[in-house]
Amino acid sequence: MSFSAQIIAWYKLHKRDLPWRKTKDPYPIWLSEIMLQQTRVAQGLPYYLAFTEAFPKVEKLAAASEEKVLKLWQGLGYYSRARNLHATAKYVSNDLNGKFPTTKKELLGLKGIGDYTASAIASFAFNEAVAVVDGNVNRVLSRYFGIDLPVNEKTGQTLIKEKANQVLDPKNPALHNQAIMEFGALQCKPKNPYCHLCPLQKDCVAFQQGKVDLLPVKIKK
Ligand code: ADE
Ligand code: SF4
Repeated sequence: MSFSAQIIAWYKLHKRDLPWRKTKDPYPIWLSEIMLQQTRVAQGLPYYLAFTEAFPKVEKLAAASEEKVLKLWQGLGYYSRARNLHATAKYVSNDLNGKFPTTKKELLGLKGIGDYTASAIASFAFNEAVAVVDGNVNRVLSRYFGIDLPVNEKTGQTLIKEKANQVLDPKNPALHNQAIMEFGALQCKPKNPYCHLCPLQKDCVAFQQGKVDLLPVKIKK
């Protein structure tokens, strides 16, 4: 079985039931991905529910006062995320007729949307075959392939992105990307990963070489 088929099979058995995974609408997907940057799921979830309740459509968020948006964001931190969120909602609502761009390339042109977020929206909402690379993916792939280049430097990041796109199932990008992130969050976690009951164990270079706890490598900056 391919890497992708294995993590997708694992995902179907172990995934958490999270509301932004039940939609293909780019608006709530975008909201969730902005909120979950530098924020844990347990912390972000109540904010996601409050925002989607207060602003069920991008036009509602666009029409809200900055004060109201910042008030609902209160406690999440990194307030530039909220300001960019509001600016992008206004832009999509007023200049794009309420329609989000549908490709990674165009999504990258929106305020507050970087490589990770553009890949996430393009794959989850529009099934574009682009791999997401976040902290979870860095960890899974550096261990699985035994990559000891620093993941927070150009060399390591370039290699991880290449591997991430190699293992991506182009027929199933949305499912594959959710699966690899969830696998990193729940199974191949930073401390005490569940290697003893891992479906990738026999092909995992770090496990086979006893280097799981040494990867991923991060350079102090
Ligand atoms: N963290 C960032 N994006 C996520 C997602 N789609 N599901 C769970 N955790 C996430
Ligand atoms: Fe991660 Fe361990 Fe599985 Fe390797 S064997 S992919 S290190 S959980």
